[in-house]
Amino acid sequence: MSDAANQITLTIDGVEVSVAAGTTLLQAAEHAGVVVPHYCYHPGIPSRPAQCRMCLVEIEGQPKLQPSCVFPAGEGMVVHTTSEAAEKARQSVIEFLLLNHPLDCPICDAAGQCMLQDYAFETGQLRSRYAEAKMVLGRDRVADDILYFGDRCIVCTRCVRFMEDIAGDNALVVAQRGHKAYIDTFPGRDLDHAFRGNIVDVCPVGALVHEDFVFKARAWDMDAAPGICPGCSTGCNIEINVKENQVVRTKPRLNTEVNSYWMCDHGRRVLVMANRGVRAEAPMIRRAGELEPASWNEALAWVAEELGGSGGVAVASASVSNEALFYTRTLLNHLGIEGGTFEVEEGAEVTLAGFPKLKLRAERAPNATGAALHGYRRSEGLPEVVDGASLVVLGDALAEAPADYGANAGFFLYIGSHLPPAAGNATAILPAAAVPEMEGTFVNYEGRVQRFHRALRSPGVARPAWMFLSRLLEHLGEGTGVREIGDAFGVMAAGTEAMQGLTWGGLGLRGELLSEAGHPAVAAE
Ligand code: SF4
Ligand code: SF4
Ligand code: FES
Repeated sequence: MSDAANQITLTIDGVEVSVAAGTTLLQAAEHAGVVVPHYCYHPGIPSRPAQCRMCLVEIEGQPKLQPSCVFPAGEGMVVHTTSEAAEKARQSVIEFLLLNHPLDCPICDAAGQCMLQDYAFETGQLRSRYAEAKMVLGRDRVADDILYFGDRCIVCTRCVRFMEDIAGDNALVVAQRGHKAYIDTFPGRDLDHAFRGNIVDVCPVGALVHEDFVFKARAWDMDAAPGICPGCSTGCNIEINVKENQVVRTKPRLNTEVNSYWMCDHGRRVLVMANRGVRAEAPMIRRAGELEPASWNEALAWVAEELGGSGGVAVASASVSNEALFYTRTLLNHLGIEGGTFEVEEGAEVTLAGFPKLKLRAERAPNATGAALHGYRRSEGLPEVVDGASLVVLGDALAEAPADYGANAGFFLYIGSHLPPAAGNATAILPAAAVPEMEGTFVNYEGRVQRFHRALRSPGVARPAWMFLSRLLEHLGEGTGVREIGDAFGVMAAGTEAMQGLTWGGLGLRGELLSEAGHPAVAAE
């Protein structure tokens, strides 16, 4: 059947819309720009129990209201989502859901982002007609790190169905029936799946909360920025929530090519942990044997003057951006340092059964593919430094290094955001912005180049490594300094064979596969 023959045209709230056969009314309404309130339906969860009845709509010619989340669009249908009958039904659902609700929005972590709160406001019902004592379920724990506030639960079963349909682990169940129903773990089972945190994201109300987020931030006190999870080589698209310049939460961001609506629990912790550690805040140069703070101009001029060109070794982190790797590579070429190595921590791999493309991958770094693409060699352990030779370190590559590593180098240039003990041996320290503090790109396991955006302010005068390295190279007579990430990306794409043709703007929020840009994918599974 041709695409045109497969199309259905219908009218929703006076808007004519054409959709593919098999599309539900709720999805067709989205195409028409109409949001039908819903609870049990979630676009990423295949099962559709149509149990909450929040999405009922009126269809001309049909004797009863129909649940739009499962009712298929039909040719010539005329649908009303805000007719008196539909509104009244919705109001009744809300009234029923609020019978035993504690109305504790002032202390609920979901307030401001809660579908029950939103729709209760929309239906305009300000007073409850229920005068009896409310049933109290209290607070429970469904996993080591997830709390369940039973009184807020609307028993939409999204969490239960995420575990069944997507995680493939029926660890959660609905216990009891009717108004006594609540969510619990299956008797004798623990909720310990590596992707369990997604039940918090799919919960449309504040019934499920990560313990480390409880009472931490109100929705309106947080900023959000699109990022890429640095926890493994999958490169899940995430939203980084920030309060007072601290990462307080990360949530998955939809990218159907990478992670769909989901992310793993390891990834949720990585950026929150990144708040910790001793930071490099100002350039430091070693004069008369002591590391002293210096201005950027002074430090870059001094490093350009003092750096030797007689070879040496370099080590990079696979968690820094492509732009930092590229400009460091250009510096290494200038210094006559061949290669450069990177090491990647490995861990157990876990696949998400309902979306198998998404795995917590063994490679626990976001940009090993990018590091290899820019000419760094994967190795185990740190390179040996010959007495008096140059050493260049990029990123957090020395986190586990012995405290005396690099002490015998002739010139030790440390470019990083954190200061492990071995950084104290450096001849010069150039303070770099950490990944959430800047814009840049990673290349994931399958060769997808993805952008991340800035979520935090850097401490002190730390700057993105590509920015100050391009200025250092200008001091050395190589190119000109760049100030915009789009320019840095452009210089890198032009100077990196596998990336030619890519543009910063063209990557968008979905990213681009190197193979799509006309180049073979750099890694395959
Ligand atoms: S805990 Fe949340 S997702 Fe689970 S049934 Fe209750 S309201 Fe729905
Ligand atoms: S699968 Fe990997 S990239 Fe995705 S959230 Fe987990 S650690 Fe992060
Ligand atoms: S969203 Fe349709 S019945 Fe729940």
